[in-house]
Amino acid sequence: MTLQEEITRRRTFAIISHPDAGKTTLTEKLLLFGGAIHVAGAVKSNKIKKGATSDFMEIERQRGISVATSVMGFEYNGVKINILDTPGHEDFAEDTYRTLTAVDSVIIVIDGAKGVEQQTRRLMEVCRMRKTPVMVFINKLDRPCKDPFDLLDEVERELRIKVRPLAFPISNGPTFKGVYNIYAHGLSLFTSDERQTATASTVEIRDLAAPELDAHVGERYARQLREDSELIEGVYDPFDRDAYLAGDLAPVFFGSAINNFGVRELLECFIDIAPSPRPSQTETRRVEPAEEKMTGFVFKIHANMDPNHRDRIAFLKICSGRFERNRNYLHVRSGKQLKFSSPTAFMAEKKSVIDEAYPGDIVGLHDTGTFKIGDTFTEGEKLKFTGIPSFAPEQFRYIENADPLKFKQLAKGVDQLMDEGVAQLFTSQLNGRRIIGTVGALQFEVIQYRLEHEYGAKCRWEPISIYKACWIESDDAGQLADFKRRKHTNMAVDKHGRDVFLADTSYALTLAQENFKEIRFKFTSEF
Ligand code: G4P
Repeated sequence: MTLQEEITRRRTFAIISHPDAGKTTLTEKLLLFGGAIHVAGAVKSNKIKKGATSDFMEIERQRGISVATSVMGFEYNGVKINILDTPGHEDFAEDTYRTLTAVDSVIIVIDGAKGVEQQTRRLMEVCRMRKTPVMVFINKLDRPCKDPFDLLDEVERELRIKVRPLAFPISNGPTFKGVYNIYAHGLSLFTSDERQTATASTVEIRDLAAPELDAHVGERYARQLREDSELIEGVYDPFDRDAYLAGDLAPVFFGSAINNFGVRELLECFIDIAPSPRPSQTETRRVEPAEEKMTGFVFKIHANMDPNHRDRIAFLKICSGRFERNRNYLHVRSGKQLKFSSPTAFMAEKKSVIDEAYPGDIVGLHDTGTFKIGDTFTEGEKLKFTGIPSFAPEQFRYIENADPLKFKQLAKGVDQLMDEGVAQLFTSQLNGRRIIGTVGALQFEVIQYRLEHEYGAKCRWEPISIYKACWIESDDAGQLADFKRRKHTNMAVDKHGRDVFLADTSYALTLAQENFKEIRFKFTSEF
């Protein structure tokens, strides 16, 4: 196969949802279709039910051992599909945001009874920023749901994106009859004995006026579907793929993931319309997937929690060219040539050594602590991919060494955990103390646990009252120097030596923004 053919047949995406909407269930059903797994229950849910550390550790342990579940690759009808897993818990939203930088499209799962929920809204913000094409799957139609038209309006309003139903449900809850596939003109009938099977009975119905419809769903529901269908064609413009690819229009499907219902319709349409790997932006130029030379970047580093294998795995997204095993690549940040003797690919539960990979693929690289998020690999060109975000943390604590004999271990552990993007380290300009900033409170427990179990170091947290940290920049060197002098008690530097302003209160931040007009206060930075 040529490079272009390999690119064209790839679809790399993430499934996102508010916890409990059905992301894990849908992922699993998709894998069943691809024959990547054979039994239900093979995909571990990565959600944290009680928000407890023990829960997190258990999950990390599972994920660490079968780190393969972070990326799930499979083939379906000649198409290579890569699903990137994202953590369910909002305290790990940063990890999700970064994963979204490595996908070409997204499927959003929404619970039909609950509608659009908080986390979905936040994740959609990231998709909008990056103009990522999104498809929506409205789930749990086997339960009593909101009216489908109301749901469509809600998605449009709450996620701020135009929608176009490509399937439509016939009733829901106890009287759920099935889904009419507008995209492929077929009717899928829902009968309870189809539960958990891979194929629902489908009938091709090109003309909704055909009396056949009445025979299948009964006169009342047939009439309802005809009315709904007229309304859909009247209200919504015909499906416009370009608008979808531009991130302006979300096609919507309905179904019930647990019953494997409506999932095939979603998958087949997805394969048809979802984008193959798209160009990636670097500081200097745009990289096209079909360029001959290999380029890629690390978007995630996963520590192995298996005590027998302490090493880490760096996840490399291939952006262009053909990646080959045992071939030298330039690690741009260090300037070193590196080659990988056992790069791995992820096929559902399994992880296997591969000889080559293509744009859109994710390759696992064995890492002993050399790689950082954002690191670029090329065949010699000094590129740096942009847009891998690091968010302004919202929770802060001083980190103190609790075991004087383990000072070095602590320093190394903190350093590596920061490279993994678990949290951010700041050094106060006032007293030189080190401050850890995170997005969610759970990370403090995770850091403490991991420092102890992976690095043999002990830390202690001490409170510090900070409202927000933001990076400051200015073209006006005089004003910047003046600001730093006046605010010196609130100044810190991040790992890269960049200036960070630690605002005590929201008022202090607003005041600073008003008084120092030449200074840009930034709430995200890049790796
Ligand atoms: P998440 O990854 O988005 O957090 O959701 P997950 O798939 O774990 O699903 C959350 C719950 O919703 C699960 O139930 C799952 O069985 C259920 N679910 C998923 N799809 C459907 C559906 O189409 N219809 C119905 N009725 N339920 C669905 P749980 O009780 O939390 O877990 P479990 O004990 O069943 O595994």
